[in-house]
Amino acid sequence: MKSDEKKERAALAALEQVRGGMTLGVGTGSTVNFFIDALAARAPDLKAVVSSSEASTTRMQGHGIRVTELARTADIDLYVDGADEATQHRYLIKGGGGALTREKIVAGASRRFVCIADDTKLVGVLGKFPLPVEVIPMARSYVARQMFRFGGQPIWREGFITDNGNEILDVHNLRITDPPALETELNQIPGVVTVGIFAHRPADELLMADDEGVRSI
Ligand code: A5P
Repeated sequence: MKSDEKKERAALAALEQVRGGMTLGVGTGSTVNFFIDALAARAPDLKAVVSSSEASTTRMQGHGIRVTELARTADIDLYVDGADEATQHRYLIKGGGGALTREKIVAGASRRFVCIADDTKLVGVLGKFPLPVEVIPMARSYVARQMFRFGGQPIWREGFITDNGNEILDVHNLRITDPPALETELNQIPGVVTVGIFAHRPADELLMADDEGVRSI
């Protein structure tokens, strides 16, 4: 089965958890785009919809879905988002699309976080996917030098500016055996805005689509 078909299956499985009256958080990426399109088609009567990126906001508004600012809502009932890598412990790497900071905020503000992905994202140890780190622009070189101390090879995502006006370093060759510890340590580096490890606030459920169907972890 093609990767896109699996992504759509995972997205449709998450849509089953959406109930009328909910405040819904919507993530970013190609898997979430299937979720947005299916959500628009089903059009449940939601209390509010919060977005994790300008890209998802634009897509939802294109469907006529009204998007509310997080600052104007109470806690989110359900957050649906994709991932670049996920473990059985539901630890994630996110930020391939550069939306990691808003994604981490929305995940933190959510009672329940359901991560949707195809089975190629499931790994034993995080880190094969280069770890995105959002940095304040003036700190880019400094933070990059610090990354070598952790055994990583940082590559500047040149020309990319996040929705928050910052830059991204993609850190290669990290073997992340203790995701919560590394998330904490990297967060201490001055100039780091957000690390793409989602371990302190992992997903509550992974919906992983494979050739057989959608597996819940
Ligand atoms: C966006 O910044 C990311 O965190 C995405 O959630 C992640 O890259 C998954 O994207 P795809 O669904 O396109 O693989």
